[in-house]
Amino acid sequence: MDQIAVRAPAKINLALDIKGLQADGYHQLETIMQSVSLCDHIYLKKTNRGIKLTNSVPGLPEDNHNLAYRAAELIFNQYYRNGSIEIHIDKKIPVAAGLAGGSTDSAAVIKGINLLFGLGLDYPQLLELARAIGSDVPFCLKGGTAFAYGRGDQLVQLPDLKKTWLVLVTPPKEVLTAVVYQQYDLIKPELTIPMEDLKGIIKNGQNIYWNEGWNNVLEPVTAGLIGDITEIKEMLKEMGAIFTMMSGSGPTVFGVMPDREQAEQACQKWPRSTDSVFPVYTYKQDFRE
Ligand code: C5P
Repeated sequence: MDQIAVRAPAKINLALDIKGLQADGYHQLETIMQSVSLCDHIYLKKTNRGIKLTNSVPGLPEDNHNLAYRAAELIFNQYYRNGSIEIHIDKKIPVAAGLAGGSTDSAAVIKGINLLFGLGLDYPQLLELARAIGSDVPFCLKGGTAFAYGRGDQLVQLPDLKKTWLVLVTPPKEVLTAVVYQQYDLIKPELTIPMEDLKGIIKNGQNIYWNEGWNNVLEPVTAGLIGDITEIKEMLKEMGAIFTMMSGSGPTVFGVMPDREQAEQACQKWPRSTDSVFPVYTYKQDFRE
């Protein structure tokens, strides 16, 4: 086998709380992460010319500022000295949008290189590499539904959610994750998020009543930085969303839709042409130990 294609799904946060600061300066999170069907496609090919990375969209880093490049560098350094690979990223997930686009590409490269080079690394070894790259990369290895804590890299896998249709809306505004967290420290919005109850609902396979406590403590922070969040939430509700929330540090907002038809219709009729809009559904865990 000389080449392999790996799917890299986006993630959203179904709830996100901050419990304090860690000794390393990272924020101590409690969050429920969920993979969705919007995917980048990663093409990996063995070569003999070092690591070469290309993207389908211009303007993205093609050196070790790209988390996918860093994943290849790290795995080769530790497990396959002088490994060479061509990585092509067919980018569908909006960049710097709160959807873990860079992290999921990185996780896909780790899994892909492990298979392509027959390295035989087990999940704990892959997890260690993922943790060294970024906070969201560990979740992206397995995907599905998980409770994440620590800086977001400690995981408790939860049962797969019943297939749920959503609309993702990404406004054309960039917000840097680090800036959102800094701003959070200044504002510290008071929101009560009953995380144990929310986890319990998913664990027991119960129906989710979205308006009961599902919340993201970073949402008022990013909404204060860019105006679009509130407007998008209102528009999603007008289009039939039963619940809306910002994902991660934003600026993507998702709406939970009653069914596929309404999700697709909302995207077709979306009035702001500058937003990126996607009908998606919740994805199951796609990697088992
Ligand atoms: O880990 P990652 O590189 O994705 O994080 C980007 C930035 O977001 C960090 O440098 C940090 O400033 C902030 N962050 C944080 N607490 C977290 C995750 C990220 O403060 N749990």
